[in-house]
Amino acid sequence: MTGRIWGTIPTIGGIARLVCRRKLALRKRGWFLLRDIIQIEDISKVYLIGQERVVALRNVNLNIREGEFCCILGTSGSGKSTLLNMIAGLEKPTRGNIMIDGQCINKMSENRLARFRQEHIGFIFQSYNLMSSLTAKENVAMPLVFRGVPKKERERRALQLLKSVGLETHVRHRPTQMSGGQQQRVGIARAFVGQPQIVFADEPTGNLDTKTREEVMRLMIEISRRGGRTLVMVTHDNELAQYADRVIKIRDGRVEDIVANAQRALINA
Ligand SMILES: Nc1ncnc2c1ncn2[C@@H]1O[C@H](COP(=O)(O)OP(=O)(O)O)[C@@H](O)[C@H]1O
Ligand SMILES: [Mg+2]
Repeated sequence: MTGRIWGTIPTIGGIARLVCRRKLALRKRGWFLLRDIIQIEDISKVYLIGQERVVALRNVNLNIREGEFCCILGTSGSGKSTLLNMIAGLEKPTRGNIMIDGQCINKMSENRLARFRQEHIGFIFQSYNLMSSLTAKENVAMPLVFRGVPKKERERRALQLLKSVGLETHVRHRPTQMSGGQQQRVGIARAFVGQPQIVFADEPTGNLDTKTREEVMRLMIEISRRGGRTLVMVTHDNELAQYADRVIKIRDGRVEDIVANAQRALINA
């Protein structure tokens, strides 16, 4: 009996060593060990227009890892924005659940969800969505107003973010006094100012020319990597999707394919 027990100990030690070695090997390979920050469980979305039912999403299951840059790729009308809006808590699914950091966001009350979004989520819009009466600095500081951050600290952080997107010379400019690329850089600064865990971007370069597009992508990726933030971007552009660690291809409201970009994942590790 005693012999049998002692006999198993080297085996347990051996397994532990094997597990350790495997973990090290996985860590070297990248993001396999990172936890899932977003879990999408069998969601569907049906819109009713009069008598007509438009099925925008059908049984989507998906996990997104912490710190990952994930791209949702599909043609116009495939359901990309619907999916993104749902993960970001802007819309509710007809069926299924969305868990962020272990919390089911579609079951939260409106107030709780609003608070959750302020604390955990940043959003970058295709058409920037800046407030036209506010300066660049005031637009960037806006999310911090809702979080009750004192004015001095808001201004310090807004300036810091504007600097990191190369707009320290445009602090007092209003949206109409800036180019599209500059407005989107303000949009990026605003999305990251509250240090959210996740930033969502819906066709963030859709209104920009090719050169500005690259610059805006670079800034967005750099800032999210530096802070170890999760970035989820929607695009119809295959070329832009190549920047991501993982590409989720969607068609007719379904996940058609998921492609991991191993090289990106390694850089990210
Ligand atoms: N608020 C809405 N009411 C009704 N139908 C909608 C609404 N939003 C999206 N849809 C429909 O859902 C489908 C997916 O739309 P969307 O998610 O915007 O696609 P994408 O962003 O990929 O272009 C489309 O058929 C669209 O017409
Ligand atoms: Mg869209």
